[in-house]
Amino acid sequence: MRATIASLVSNALLLIQQAAAAPTDTDTWNETTVDISGDSSADSFSVASIYDWTYRRWNGANYACKCYPGDPCWPSTLQWNLLNATVGGNLQISIPPAASCYNTFQGLLGNISTYNAAQCADVHANYASEQWQIDLPTAGLWTYFTNDTCRPTTNPTDSCTGGYFPTIYIKATTIAHIQAGILFAKNNNLRLIIRNTGHDFLGRSVGWGALVINTHSFKDISLTSSYRGACNYTGSAITVGAGVQAFEALSKLHSLNPPKIMVTGECATVGVAGGLVQGGGHGPLTNFYGFLADTALEFQVITADGVLRTANAKTNPDLFWALRGGGPSAFGVVVQATYKTFDDYSSSGTTFALGPANVNNNDTLWWDAIAKFHSYSNHFVDNGLYIYYELYPGLSFRVQPVVGVNKTAAQLEAVLQPLFNDWTAMGLTFDKTTTTYSTFYELYNALFESEVAGDSALTGGWAFSKTDVAKNNAGIIDAFKNVLNNGALLVGHMWNGGHGLPQSQWADSAINLRFRNVSDKLITILPLSGNAPLAEKEAAQRVLTDVVDGGLRAAGPNGAAYINEADPFQPNWQTAFWGTNYPKLLQLRQKWDPTGVFYSVSTPGTEKWEQIEYGTRLCKKL
Ligand SMILES: Cc1cc2nc3c(=O)[nH]c(=O)nc-3n(C[C@H](O)[C@H](O)[C@H](O)COP(=O)(O)OP(=O)(O)OC[C@H]3O[C@@H](n4cnc5c(N)ncnc54)[C@H](O)[C@@H]3O)c2cc1C
Ligand SMILES: *[C@@H]1O[C@H](CO)[C@@H](O)[C@H](O)[C@H]1NC(C)=O
Ligand SMILES: *[C@@H]1O[C@H](CO)[C@@H](O)[C@H](O)[C@H]1NC(C)=O
Ligand SMILES: *[C@@H]1O[C@H](CO)[C@@H](O)[C@H](O)[C@H]1NC(C)=O
Ligand SMILES: *[C@@H]1O[C@H](CO)[C@@H](O)[C@H](O)[C@H]1NC(C)=O
Ligand SMILES: *[C@@H]1O[C@H](CO)[C@@H](O)[C@H](O)[C@H]1NC(C)=O
Ligand SMILES: *[C@@H]1O[C@H](CO)[C@@H](O)[C@H](O)[C@H]1NC(C)=O
Ligand SMILES: *[C@@H]1O[C@H](CO)[C@@H](O)[C@H](O)[C@H]1NC(C)=O
Ligand SMILES: *[C@@H]1O[C@H](CO)[C@@H](O)[C@H](O)[C@H]1NC(C)=O
Repeated sequence: MRATIASLVSNALLLIQQAAAAPTDTDTWNETTVDISGDSSADSFSVASIYDWTYRRWNGANYACKCYPGDPCWPSTLQWNLLNATVGGNLQISIPPAASCYNTFQGLLGNISTYNAAQCADVHANYASEQWQIDLPTAGLWTYFTNDTCRPTTNPTDSCTGGYFPTIYIKATTIAHIQAGILFAKNNNLRLIIRNTGHDFLGRSVGWGALVINTHSFKDISLTSSYRGACNYTGSAITVGAGVQAFEALSKLHSLNPPKIMVTGECATVGVAGGLVQGGGHGPLTNFYGFLADTALEFQVITADGVLRTANAKTNPDLFWALRGGGPSAFGVVVQATYKTFDDYSSSGTTFALGPANVNNNDTLWWDAIAKFHSYSNHFVDNGLYIYYELYPGLSFRVQPVVGVNKTAAQLEAVLQPLFNDWTAMGLTFDKTTTTYSTFYELYNALFESEVAGDSALTGGWAFSKTDVAKNNAGIIDAFKNVLNNGALLVGHMWNGGHGLPQSQWADSAINLRFRNVSDKLITILPLSGNAPLAEKEAAQRVLTDVVDGGLRAAGPNGAAYINEADPFQPNWQTAFWGTNYPKLLQLRQKWDPTGVFYSVSTPGTEKWEQIEYGTRLCKKL
């Protein structure tokens, strides 16, 4: 094993060492209270040890693990110092956002005094703010996967530990910084996390003991009205840096005359060149133009060997295909992406809700009304609608919004009318509001509600095919009841990934072909504190996988799961996420990242990788 790893070690480290100026700021370095080597004894500076794995036994099996603080193969202070010089001093120790409310943060690299009353007040005021968390270097917005070991407190003597937070990060501001980080992680066998907005539901933007490369600074946007590139497309396009968020791209496009739009998620703060496109990227325009990945024209991407490459229809077309939906942080680090943009149209949106008062507190009636709504899924998407809805316990059903792009209020309501007629016939009373906006952009800003950070939950989900809705809507509704009865919530997204995209383009990306025939994609949310006892967490994971999502899968055997919004521990995840594309993706992972420099859970080729020892060490099963 050692020989294999040693042979991988490229000239890259040497390159870094040559490129790096000798660290000059030794005084600053000495002043840090933390011994970055993770070893309180003197540094060995032993070059031979850095290519090692750490061997562990866990649950009766043998594992070769990445290197963590305290392991002999964890880099020495000298090596970190060289890296820091290479990345312009942008290497920093990762501290959980709420550490300023505690006297001491006990991290893997030692104890640091952290209390700061003003910063702590800021934490209390902003912990639920998405953008505040996004701007922090290593925070995870959905805190379950940070292990919630350092939440805001008013008692500074409580314990604040690192949980599953990374240990150290590079705030990258140049492509060379990202390259240096990738090569350092590769050569020293470190757990590497690429962190953009930290929006991830599956915990993929945090990881115990990891080195993080933060891409948030890459905010460049450029626009063209006539793209010239490797494919035959000559229309308008946008080129975005890795850190650009949807609202930034959309507002820039809206400022054009005439205004343009692009496919993004429904959530305006999610990034547009990171996890979203690499998982696919659905949104309110998906009925019109497919996934964000379907609109991609080109990527600039750094692969596991540290090389910056172009990926488009002509250059590295296999990598281009894989980056379009093949899984985040699996094939490379995207530093720049170019997408098609489209004309913006006057659009209409409708909102409505059904609560206990609309059904006289009648549970049966409420579920009958939901079943009726859901039976129209195929009708809605076939007529070009996108619908975002929530089903919560306590007879709470909210639809906000229904989106009709390029539709008048009358055209939109005509599509909804059969449902409203049925509801009226069932004896329901309800209100609905339809508004027309002069552009989709204005609708998007007005009707999609902003979301909060700092919540802790397990996330699952499943998408229902049109076939399953047509044949088994009653079974699907029983599965919905089962979701709510088991303490979970449901968020639905009605769209069809093949409706607006010519069939000839369906296979141009790695997206599961089944998404071309779905009409409702659901997220299940099982609220649970990240610091709940381990046994409780294990039980909740089983409920999510087997009971909550198990019921949805059984009701929709022709469906699929979406890698960015699903349970990564579901059985047969390879097929659920990628269907018939999986074998090709597996080959491409072996080609572009043969040693597992990148990792995010349940992406192609990660079958042997596990986070053993209660979700900490990332290891390969031997
Ligand atoms: C409130 C909310 C709403 C959402 N709405 C939608 C929606 O409407 N449609 C939809 O499709 N999804 C939606 N998502 C899911 C979203 O697609 C994922 O959370 C996505 O992974 C976020 O990507 P990010 O880059 O912004 O976040 P991060 O959490 O920073 O990254 C997520 C993953 O992508 C990897 N990654 C990030 N940047 C790069 C890069 N440059 N190169 C390589 N890998 C990278 C990370 O390592 C990680 O594995 C939503 C999520 C949330 C929390
Ligand atoms: C910094 O550390 C080096 C190496 O450990 C040591 O030789 C030097 O004296 C220290 N400098 C200060 C200012 O403490
Ligand atoms: C990296 O260098 C900068 C600038 O010298 C310094 O402020 C920072 O503390 C260093 N990082 C680490 C992890 O020591
Ligand atoms: C850090 O602080 C904790 C709590 O005070 C203590 O138990 C631990 O020994 C300290 N660790 C180090 C490395 O000093
Ligand atoms: C994570 O949280 C669990 C409790 O949910 C705890 O038992 C475990 O020690 C924690 N691990 C870390 C690394 O914080
Ligand atoms: C571009 O168009 C030409 C001529 O129609 C065709 O042969 C070629 O395959 C197209 N290229 C791409 C990348 O679609
Ligand atoms: C509740 O609604 C169902 C379905 O419409 C109906 O059969 C039943 O009689 C109602 N129950 C009450 C108490 O009104
Ligand atoms: C927009 O709607 C008009 C009128 O219904 C229709 O003629 C046109 O084709 C639509 N445009 C698109 C891009 O769907
Ligand atoms: C898609 O769904 C429709 C409607 O149920 C069905 O007739 C068709 O066979 C499905 N197509 C595929 C490829 O599954």
